[in-house]
Amino acid sequence: MTFEIKNMAVIGVGIMGSGIAQIAAQSGHTTYLYDTKAGAAEQAKQKLAATFQKLVDKNKISAEQATVANKHLIVADQLEELKDCDLIVEAIVERLDVKQSLMQQLEDVVSDTAILASNTSSLSITAIAANCKNPQRVVGFHFFNPVPLMKVVEVIQGLKTDPLIIDALNELARAFGHRPVVAKDTPGFIINHAGRAYGTEALKILNENVCDISEIDRILRDGVGFRMGPFELMDLTGLDVSHPVMESIYHQYYEEARYKPNPLTKQMLDAKLLGRKVNQGFYNYATGEKTGEIPARFVTPLNTYPSVWIAADFPEDQQQLEAYLRQHNITVDTHSEPQADSLCLLACYGEDTTQAAQRFQVNPEHAVAVDLLYGISKHRTLMPSLITKTEYRQAAHSIFNLDGGMVSMIAESIGFVAQRVLAMVINLGCDLAQQNIASVDDINAAVRLGLGYPFGPIEWGDQIGSQKILLILNRIATLTHDPRYRPSPWLQRRVALNLPLTFNTDL
Ligand code: NAI
Repeated sequence: MTFEIKNMAVIGVGIMGSGIAQIAAQSGHTTYLYDTKAGAAEQAKQKLAATFQKLVDKNKISAEQATVANKHLIVADQLEELKDCDLIVEAIVERLDVKQSLMQQLEDVVSDTAILASNTSSLSITAIAANCKNPQRVVGFHFFNPVPLMKVVEVIQGLKTDPLIIDALNELARAFGHRPVVAKDTPGFIINHAGRAYGTEALKILNENVCDISEIDRILRDGVGFRMGPFELMDLTGLDVSHPVMESIYHQYYEEARYKPNPLTKQMLDAKLLGRKVNQGFYNYATGEKTGEIPARFVTPLNTYPSVWIAADFPEDQQQLEAYLRQHNITVDTHSEPQADSLCLLACYGEDTTQAAQRFQVNPEHAVAVDLLYGISKHRTLMPSLITKTEYRQAAHSIFNLDGGMVSMIAESIGFVAQRVLAMVINLGCDLAQQNIASVDDINAAVRLGLGYPFGPIEWGDQIGSQKILLILNRIATLTHDPRYRPSPWLQRRVALNLPLTFNTDL
């Protein structure tokens, strides 16, 4: 059986339903609007007419296109008016019992070949279909807010969904101008699942008192290139949205350590410190702007600097540090062991300074570790040991301020900040691929478009170097004994065989 979609309907025309109706109408599909709230469908149609007019005013679409799009929107007062639709997309309240009963009701209205799609973000498609006579026709079609701008949609295959329906919705999504990504019906699907690493690892770092929120945000935003720091992002999304998602995915995966939430966000939720929407979250927004960020500290150039002895896990890191030091006329101690007064810079991975100092057999009082996962061109993270002398700590800070670059000085943490967070993001992406939740291409595209990360997690691993990511995870897992950090088999196998993480086989 093939599925051809000409007429469709959106049920529940709130934020999401209106957005879906907009792109459907603009791409030439007759779209019925239905809502149980009296007058809501008519109101949505009028709002969309105003939106089309704005797009005309901004020269985004022509007046003719707006007229045609308006004509494609039809208000339905009764469910029975949807009987000729080839596709119904529900975007009603997020409650399993209500969605199940709507699907059952719809089966009595539409033809046997009509597709019933749900825009749910957290419920199982298989469960929504469970009471239907024909669960094969039920599918997930998960858009993101705001729908016209977020150009990705998850097409979710329930345990019984007909694969031809997946093909039909993929084609429809492309006609809407969206990138479809096909996901297995699993908690969080692709995007809400892949997004679990960033915030939870940042919260864990904060919880371990490694540094403050401003420093964590700066390292990840300015050093790594995330659009927003994790705390800025949680403030934007609102903890009333993000905390329940963290808890829900953790419990749905039966307390899997990788997704473990943090008590701090529950407490902030209780205290109604939700973020931007109430002017106070991790930062303050009472003036309309973010305030409360503690600025980076700069150390003025010193009169004299100690010579610097370098130890690195990777030769390119050693070269990079040496070049920087020589460029700034700092003496490099090239002896096989550090001279008595040398500062010891340790470019290590997945360790804290104490462990690295022991491994490289240097005096921890002279040691400062430096995170070179993302190089030193944009931002530098330095980590003294518990007993590093102030003079060496100050010298290291000043050296990396000499060219005006920013320094984050953090307390001892097994794996710095960027290393921990990126290794978790990439490892989780690998795990999604290992579980076959989606193809490698779809995982990468979903994360780029849905989460706005600069790269998809699996391609990012290849770009940074998968052996570095595996080294970080192996060391952190060994040192912390926390199963959260265990490397995905997908990652381990590809590193062992020297294959790119994107390498896949259908066998
Ligand atoms: P909303 O509250 O803005 O709109 C829901 C609309 O559905 C309302 O107009 C309401 O009157 C109507 N409605 C409720 N029960 C109904 C029923 N039984 N029959 C017909 N209409 C009914 O909600 P929103 O934010 O648009 O979310 C809708 C769905 O989309 C939920 O399943 C939600 O999880 C999902 N979603 C929401 C996202 C978001 O960012 N808001 C993102 C992705 C998915």
